[in-house]
Amino acid sequence: MTRDPDTRYYVEGIDVPETPPPSGEPEPWGETRVVGKPLPRVDAYERVSGTAVYPADLKLPRMLYGAILRSPHPHAVVSAVHTTEAAGMPGVRAVLSGFTPTDRATQPHADYIRRSLFNPHCRFQGEVVAAVAAESPYQARDALRAIRVDYEVLPFVADERRALDADAPKVHESGNQVTDTQVYERGDIATGFAEADVVLEQDYRTECEIHTPMELHGCVAKWDGDSLTVWESTQGVYNVQSQVAAALGLPLSRIRVVNHYMGGGFGSKLRASKYTTIAALLAKQTARPVKLTLTREETYLAVGNRPPSNMWLKAGVKRDGTLTALEFKGSGSGGAYRAGGTSLLDWLVRDCYLCPNVRTETTDLYINAGPARPMRAPGHPQGAWALEQMLDALAEAIELDPVALRLKNIPAYSQARGGNPPYTTTGLRQCLEDGAQAFGWRESRSAMARGATDGHVRRGVGMASGLWIGGGGGPPSTVIVKLFADGSVNLNMGASDIGTGTKTVMAMVVAEELGVDPDDVQIEHADTGTTQFATASGGSKTVPTEAPTVRAAALDLKRQLFELAGEELGVDPSQLRLEAGRVVSTVDPSTAVEITRLPGLARRRSITGVGYRAPNPEGKVVNPFAAQFCEVEVNTLTGELKVLRFVAAHDSGRVMNRLTYQNQVFGGITMGIGFGMTEERVLDVDQTGKMVNINWHDYKIPTALDVPADMTCVPIDRPDDEANTTGAKGIGEPATIPTAPAVANAITHAVGVRVTGTPATPARVVQLLADARKGG
Ligand code: MOS
Repeated sequence: MTRDPDTRYYVEGIDVPETPPPSGEPEPWGETRVVGKPLPRVDAYERVSGTAVYPADLKLPRMLYGAILRSPHPHAVVSAVHTTEAAGMPGVRAVLSGFTPTDRATQPHADYIRRSLFNPHCRFQGEVVAAVAAESPYQARDALRAIRVDYEVLPFVADERRALDADAPKVHESGNQVTDTQVYERGDIATGFAEADVVLEQDYRTECEIHTPMELHGCVAKWDGDSLTVWESTQGVYNVQSQVAAALGLPLSRIRVVNHYMGGGFGSKLRASKYTTIAALLAKQTARPVKLTLTREETYLAVGNRPPSNMWLKAGVKRDGTLTALEFKGSGSGGAYRAGGTSLLDWLVRDCYLCPNVRTETTDLYINAGPARPMRAPGHPQGAWALEQMLDALAEAIELDPVALRLKNIPAYSQARGGNPPYTTTGLRQCLEDGAQAFGWRESRSAMARGATDGHVRRGVGMASGLWIGGGGGPPSTVIVKLFADGSVNLNMGASDIGTGTKTVMAMVVAEELGVDPDDVQIEHADTGTTQFATASGGSKTVPTEAPTVRAAALDLKRQLFELAGEELGVDPSQLRLEAGRVVSTVDPSTAVEITRLPGLARRRSITGVGYRAPNPEGKVVNPFAAQFCEVEVNTLTGELKVLRFVAAHDSGRVMNRLTYQNQVFGGITMGIGFGMTEERVLDVDQTGKMVNINWHDYKIPTALDVPADMTCVPIDRPDDEANTTGAKGIGEPATIPTAPAVANAITHAVGVRVTGTPATPARVVQLLADARKGG
């Protein structure tokens, strides 16, 4: 076992901020004119009218269509790939595999193609085996069917609970354990448990969840000489640029990655996939643009998932609600490769509530299944499923209200990071108090005390809280804002708008500083060829990273504008302000000049403001906090579950846009309901190892009918002025962390049984009720 006292965390694809030199920081905003308002999206028309061009919509002249042949077996070695027939089929222009001779265009990459891209050792169903490019998508798919592959099919292990069995097939030579078991420890749990009045322990499990974004993964690749352009549905154009560059051995400057619209990623599009490189190679070989869009089935297998988790938690509490000890053991699997199968699984146990004695162990295992990727708050919803249900059980055991138990244990500092650094702000208390208030927690809880409802349909209420390890953002980021001679404004930033409203929020920041209408800010974004560097949009850090950068760029522009205007007006630049297209003296408002009539600007034609993201405060932690409350109805005859209402109270610092903030919260609840109630990757672990519910019918994600119409967002709208110059923290991920355990706790309140494994399907609930009747 290895000790892990230092608390650096690592999630593939999420950039951990580093600390560059400090710079002059502007004052926090006071009253805001635009920021904070419920503004519809600046690109709403494009999105709803179908005029927005997503990578899947892109059609280039002479464009070919790529398709990928994937291993149908969870574990096999490819000994031959026969492509002659496929290559001769109508419309087929290129075939690639590890066994197909390379041509002049692909020869420099022959080794990479043979050994890495089409690694003959397929360790999961869905690993790539061959690819084709053809004149139509149908011809490409037909050609795939004509490729014959000789597989040596190997025994597999598809259940991580059996991965360490003596007779389990090895996924890798080294065995099925990814690294040594990771141990975190503080205080002394034996002492802690000895001090407790009540000690409980329980097993929990969460199933593997698939991202299934509405928009399929895909790209279009096009070469101009030695330069490659890729239009990719991605959360981070710069990630794709560097990963494709590394794969093909190209300089970064020769790869341009563009993403103007994308329809969901949730972490599965933080990084490049093999298909992007395949598209580039097919394009190179055919000297034509190639579009490669995965099928829905492929997205279930090969582009990530939220890993399954097996958890055991033991907790000690005093009668007054003081937590004395937490002991956690967790295992999981990121699939066939090292992919963070237990990433952050124990973080909430370590850090969410005051507790002096904590010990956690996590063990990441290999199985023959598709590799995991970060998924909306990696590790946290799983950990919350265990911890928040345990707190509920502890509260019941000591006859304390669940909200009161949490209020008793709120930390002002991060206990799990060395040196106990304080949080810049922690709104956990306010989330609990304001959320409970808005929900009518006390009244609902007592009115619905177990058994109080009549008949076989029972109601209950439950709650859970949480924090997100990230959400503070940080450098690096560079943004440019341009003011043209006619007074119009252009915003240039590298970040993707992954559907969360990033463009809208950034336009609002420009509008706030420059006095223009957000709709009039022309935006260029997410294009490595024309915009500035930004890290991938993810980790709930897009707003806290980019908004202060945009503000810095706008302020830099304003400073230059005031210098020009100051000269013109004979006023010190520090005594000027912007007001409706005019620069006005703060001393004498009659001294003013319209921007469009400023000779200095007319001469220069434009002013360019450049902004950089300043570092976060040293020695402090910026995290968002949350508490959610819900009411459910359980049919005790059928096990059917209805979620009737949700109240979500969130401390994510300043609310930048009330609408997009609320969208994140409602989306997070919806996804959390899917995680807790309906979603589950089902692998045929005994017979074939294959996934048996690879479609939107058998893999159930919640629809509008499965989530409550009655959802209320309660923002704790308190700017975190220490965190950054906009006071905003992230909201995307925290919004989905407490949802599932809140539902589980409500089920327990309604009918007395505890659903310790996801998803809480009718079959599972009705079984638990039957068991309880037998047992009781
Ligand atoms: Mo998120 S899991 O960083 O898209």
